[in-house]
Order: sequence, then structure tokens, then C-alpha cells
Amino acid sequence: MNRGYVSTAMLVMAITGACLIQSNASGEVTRKPDALAKGKRLFTRHCAGCHGSEGKGDGYKVLGPDPANLTAPATRKKSDSALLATIHEGKPNMPSWKGLLSDRDIQNVLAYIRTLPH
Ligand code: HEC
Repeated sequence: MNRGYVSTAMLVMAITGACLIQSNASGEVTRKPDALAKGKRLFTRHCAGCHGSEGKGDGYKVLGPDPANLTAPATRKKSDSALLATIHEGKPNMPSWKGLLSDRDIQNVLAYIRTLPH
């Protein structure tokens, strides 16, 4: 094994490692118990008024799009990153949360949404 091979292998490992960390930060949400407990508190405080305490979208009805049923198959099959983007940016009738909740809190609240019974 020559030096060139060793340093190429180390470079590949470093890049792979960086990508793994990156995808954990922005893609998959953590489902640790303390994250879920925090997510539940945030959901009850900020989201349940519209989405309902069980996320069924029955919190309020006004003109315009109704709050999404977060436990419906249509939402469940969306990727974490797609839903994180929606929570960040908001929707018609839904505020943008990016200035109000930290990225970590948004991930915690999504982790909790993923555990709601459907
Ligand atoms: C003022 C009411 C309101 C509040 C508060 C609210 N939402 Fe929403 N949300 C909506 C509406 C309305 C939609 C659907 C918009 C549409 O269909 O265009 C929606 C859509 C969503 C979606 C997209 C679902 C999908 O299938 O794409 C997610 C995820 C979501 N909300 C999460 C949250 C979270 C998390 C919170 C709390 C941090 C929250 N919402 C707070 C009204 C609200």
C-alpha cells in the first residue's frame, strides 16, 4: 500500500463523514425521548390551535386552506426535509416558523408529529 492510496482513502472517509453529519443536521429528524417531549410541548403551544391536539387538522376552520391533517397518509409519506421546509417557510394560512423556533425545535416538533396516532 503506498502513501497515495492511504491519503486518498482518508480523504474519502473524511468526505463521507462530513456528508453523514450534514444529512443528520438537515434531513432525518432525531426521535430521542427528550426531543419528543420537547416537540410535544412545542406542538401543544404553537401548532395544536390550528392542527388540533392530535394533529388531525381540526383545530380551526376559516376561509382558505384548512390546516393539514398531519396524520393523513398524504403527509406521512412526505420526507422529513419536505415537511421541515414547510414548517420553516409556512403556507397560505400557516405562519412561517423559521424566525420563531430554532432549527432544533422545528426538528423536535416534527419528530413528535411523526409519533401521532393515525
Ligand atoms: C394559523 C394556523 C396554523 C398554525 C398555528 C400552524 N399551522 Fe401548519 N398548516 C396550517 C395550514 C392551513 C396548512 C395547510 C396549508 C395548505 O394546505 O396549503 C398547514 C400545513 C402544515 C404542514 C404541511 C403538511 C403537508 O402535508 O404538507 C405541516 C408539516 C405543518 N403545517 C406543521 C405545523 C407545525 C409544526 C406547526 C407549529 C409549529 C404549525 N403547522 C402551525 C395552519 C397552521
